[in-house]
Amino acid sequence: MSIPIHKYDAVIVGAGLAGLSAARELKSAGKSVIILTKLHPLRSHSGAAQGGINAAFAKDDSVELHEFDTVKGSDYLADQDAVEFMCKTAPELVRWMEKMGAVFSRNEDGTIAQRPFGGQSHPRACYAKDRTGLTLLQTMFEQTNRLGVDFLDEWYVSDIIYDKGVVKGVVAYDIKTSESAIFNAKAVMFATGGYGRAFKINSNAHANTGDALSIVARHGLPLEDMEFVQFHPTGLAGTGILMSEAARGEGGKLLNSKGERFMEKYAPSKMELGPRDLVSRSITQEVLEGRGVGPDKDAVYLDMTHLGEEKIMERLPELRDLAITFLGLDMVKEPVMIAATAHYSMGGIPVNIAGRVKMDATKYVKGFYAAGECSCVSVHGANRLGANSVLEAPLFGRHVGQTMAKDIDTLELMEIDESAADKMLLEIKTLLDSNGKERVPALRAELQASMTENAGVFRTKESLTKQKIFIKELKERYKNIRVADKSKIYNTDLQEAIEFGHMLDFSAFIVEGALSRNESRGAHFRNDFDTRDDENFLKHTFAYMGENGDIKIEYTDVALGKFEPEARTY
Ligand code: FUM
Repeated sequence: MSIPIHKYDAVIVGAGLAGLSAARELKSAGKSVIILTKLHPLRSHSGAAQGGINAAFAKDDSVELHEFDTVKGSDYLADQDAVEFMCKTAPELVRWMEKMGAVFSRNEDGTIAQRPFGGQSHPRACYAKDRTGLTLLQTMFEQTNRLGVDFLDEWYVSDIIYDKGVVKGVVAYDIKTSESAIFNAKAVMFATGGYGRAFKINSNAHANTGDALSIVARHGLPLEDMEFVQFHPTGLAGTGILMSEAARGEGGKLLNSKGERFMEKYAPSKMELGPRDLVSRSITQEVLEGRGVGPDKDAVYLDMTHLGEEKIMERLPELRDLAITFLGLDMVKEPVMIAATAHYSMGGIPVNIAGRVKMDATKYVKGFYAAGECSCVSVHGANRLGANSVLEAPLFGRHVGQTMAKDIDTLELMEIDESAADKMLLEIKTLLDSNGKERVPALRAELQASMTENAGVFRTKESLTKQKIFIKELKERYKNIRVADKSKIYNTDLQEAIEFGHMLDFSAFIVEGALSRNESRGAHFRNDFDTRDDENFLKHTFAYMGENGDIKIEYTDVALGKFEPEARTY
């Protein structure tokens, strides 16, 4: 069977805000570009972002304050040159989105409305009710369609075509029919989103299985700061579905079983609008100390009843709907139950500001780029501020698209042949022939539950070591799975098996990075090393997977700047 080889200037994997923004730039510059996505573009996880996009353009706000809040929020691990670029560009980026048709909520005087978010010294999050990500995603989707960008939806990219520091394209198959194809390109960009699905309680789409990260790692390329996983303070109890920080930005209060507004103890000046790492730990601490609510006493209350129906319907209609649908609780009349939920991946594929993927701390892979949550640039360091991700994705997506458009003029289309697809075809065949005793959904549930328990909000050497051993066991058991569906049409059984292999690989990076980082910083909290250690760990983790699956940890310098690391209090 012959495999088609499609040729493009650029292939983009992922159709969220980062991928679409890059594609728009490439197409505007006259380059041929295709987006491959395992979903329909409008199902991309960017559409689930609710609360806002940061830009410092209010009269008494400033770019420098935005930078400072971001760097302090990151627990000083963010690269300050990248933060400066992001915060400086943010006001223009939001205006650009607006000009392309994004309808933002407005103030009485017609200016773009901005709401407070955690860890920020000024209301800075521009929003479209509580559907900001969806509004922006629809806008960018329209723009890419208007320009005639090619899309292939429901295609699964299983590998990059990589040889000695050069990426020449990707291999993929059509989820609808199992038909395979090779996409040969001068430039490849990954914009595939995060890896929150490694945890049991998470706010992520089912698609966020972190495939791109392990694809990169399997070629011996590094992953950066993977131990930093953000737990959003307010996921609906039981499911983890996002209850936007906008709820607290609009005045929502957190209460424990005694009716105490417990954030008074943990962040007296910021209260519920402390940074996410701190608020998530506080909620989890209340639960661990027996002041939780709900049938399993594993949640706390988010109370918005004092806001009134009019404000809730004007600003937070989606949240009200979600809480009614999933918990049967109407926030207009009663508090809703929430708990910390795995939400965002600070770590990822290391890139520079231009989006070029790093081969190690100093060299770059030719023809390979990444942006958005799958990348680590690193503007969020050890902890991201709310509404900085909806900013990062289109901002760096657009910038990386511009970089690629320039680079393409000097990059050549490298020769490849059908054998580029051999590895993917073998993996598919092996999985379809599999007839073992284990089932992927059961193994995945075990991975997620154990990651939450052992590598979640609180970690210790003991819990992480246990998890490291358990992942090794799961890897062995994965060799004995059975893919029951042997058909070619929408074989999600096969797809989930491939995805689970990736989840196992990148979860090992989270655990190894956390085990090696003997300190607490941002979202990474070690009970056995409960303070920040700048002397030894004001450094990015660069982790590499060896042939046998073992992970080697190295550290690289943080790009420091005008903000000196200091104690982080709120
Ligand atoms: O809470 C939220 O609306 C989430 C926003 C974000 O993660 O930036």
